[in-house]
Amino acid sequence: MTIKRTVGCGLVSQNYFEQYVFLAGWVHRRRDHGGLIFIDLRDRTGLMQLVFNPEVCAVSHTAAHDLRSEYVIAVAGKVVKREQNTVNARLATGEWELMVDSLNILNSAKTPPFALDEAGVIDEEVRLTYRYMDLRRPEMHAKLALRNKALFVMRTVLQEEGFYEIETPVLTKNTPEGAREFLVPSRLNQGSFYVLPQSPQLYKQLLMASGMEKYYQVARCFRDEDLRADRQPEFTQLDIEMSFVEEQDIQSLIEKILQALFKQTLNITIPVPFKRMTYDYAFDTYGSDKPDLRFGLPIVHMHNIFADTQLQFLKTVLQTDGKIGCLHVENHIFTHSELNRWTDKALGLGAKGLLWINITSEGAVESPVHKFLPADFIARAKMLFPTIGNNSTLFIMAGDYHKVWPLLGQLRLLLGQHLNLINHDEFNFSWVTDFPLFEYDEKEKRWNAMHHPFTAPQPGYESIDRSDMKARAYDVVLNGVELGGGSIRIHNRQAQQEVFNMLGLSAQEMEQKFGFLLKAQEYGFPPHGGIALGIDRLLMMMTKSVSIREVIAFPKTQRGFDLMMHAPTPVEQKVLHEYGITLLPAVKAKISE
Ligand code: AMO
Repeated sequence: MTIKRTVGCGLVSQNYFEQYVFLAGWVHRRRDHGGLIFIDLRDRTGLMQLVFNPEVCAVSHTAAHDLRSEYVIAVAGKVVKREQNTVNARLATGEWELMVDSLNILNSAKTPPFALDEAGVIDEEVRLTYRYMDLRRPEMHAKLALRNKALFVMRTVLQEEGFYEIETPVLTKNTPEGAREFLVPSRLNQGSFYVLPQSPQLYKQLLMASGMEKYYQVARCFRDEDLRADRQPEFTQLDIEMSFVEEQDIQSLIEKILQALFKQTLNITIPVPFKRMTYDYAFDTYGSDKPDLRFGLPIVHMHNIFADTQLQFLKTVLQTDGKIGCLHVENHIFTHSELNRWTDKALGLGAKGLLWINITSEGAVESPVHKFLPADFIARAKMLFPTIGNNSTLFIMAGDYHKVWPLLGQLRLLLGQHLNLINHDEFNFSWVTDFPLFEYDEKEKRWNAMHHPFTAPQPGYESIDRSDMKARAYDVVLNGVELGGGSIRIHNRQAQQEVFNMLGLSAQEMEQKFGFLLKAQEYGFPPHGGIALGIDRLLMMMTKSVSIREVIAFPKTQRGFDLMMHAPTPVEQKVLHEYGITLLPAVKAKISE
């Protein structure tokens, strides 16, 4: 019997009624009803019920006794209508069944390590070990199908806009973007190493020097960093670079791509242009450079109320240039024990304390520091919080602005979730702009580029301090997650050297690390800028998945391990020898344990 299929299992419809068709796929479920055997056959398109009836084909019926879950089979037969009372409304093909008159068992299958329809609740390690089976589940199919469509839409928009898709090397020299790199030893140049790119940043800039003008790439990036739910050691970016552009041009292009993407995949219209706010505003109002704008609860400065306070700790904060910030929750009654739990949560986040002030349903003011509050507290508070009233609670933190505001930002997110202020069906995009050019690393006692060292400073930077310099950088943020980031770049050697200088690079280091870039900047480098979107993060959010691993075919675990292939693994001594590598004795001992 042929295994050529004439229709997908999930596509059988009225058009096939009474027709003789060939199907192939996996045994999804098998039910033996005495005389008749029913199989739900599954392929990429869905499920179709097969009926093995000894009166239609005794040989097939006998063979069907051997079928088990995940056997691979091909069948042929006539499409018939199910009896009215056996129609399955939940199935696209629920009105039809196939009267099998020919069965070909293409492969058998051991009992699966998990039932495919239960995989949502089984251990992720088992799913990742048997990823090929996990991916057979319709939800996983749907996610990878969406990913395929998303890439197609994005590529289509970019092609229409005149972009070239250009591949750049994976074996390369480092492009410093903050994370640690993966090293690849070179056999032909023993003692030297390639690194895997954290992003194609410098190649795409050099493509602008090559006159390509509009570049994009669905680019694989590698970062050896601590993993979280929205991070993987290798991930994919939609990487873009354009010549002769300003911030607005790149932002409009991204809005166009995301709008087309959401319309054509999820049929959701996202309003453009996206909201815009500066980094300073986002930090001040939401304690974050990636604010979740699906709900309010802004941070409000409270020093006006406490300027003449008797509370010693607030006095000290104000005297030492600290700030007092507050979140105002309205129309919610917190019990005292709940308020104490919120204090514990704040301490858990790393706060030194959390002060609460409650206005009860009778309008009384309650707080652990009640007797130190000014008599006209409510009147004063009304100036800052016009809607304050009965059942209002103020959560207050005080201290160093840069330390306390991110904690208030985290508390805001926890309160937003707890109070159900978040609409989980909303996709709320925004641009955060005007980032600082540099950030100071307290631990290493050095300045780093906040985006990367190729980002152009804003005009007028020559006369101001490093800590006040702003970058021509922007991030696109979705529901509190940084979806992408980019900038206008430096295109002139002198400006690039100045930035390297400010980062503490010696002339020798500049030459050694970035000599090729500085040289290219002397040969007619056009003004340019770009951006990269995290594709995996985007898909994670579009599918409302709990982790980025759900939208990647073969992801790594949180420890960077491929459970299916078992990577990384030690290699034989003689292989290491070819690369001129010897392992430290302690490492050797650990491997042989
Ligand atoms: P950046 O480092 O901000 O910029 O990265 C851009 C986007 O890539 C995604 N991303 C990740 N996704 C999954 N796992 C990770 N480990 C990970 N790290 C980053 C995020 C992020 O917003 N070269 C610059 C872009 C440019 O300037 O054009 C860059 O890579 O969604």
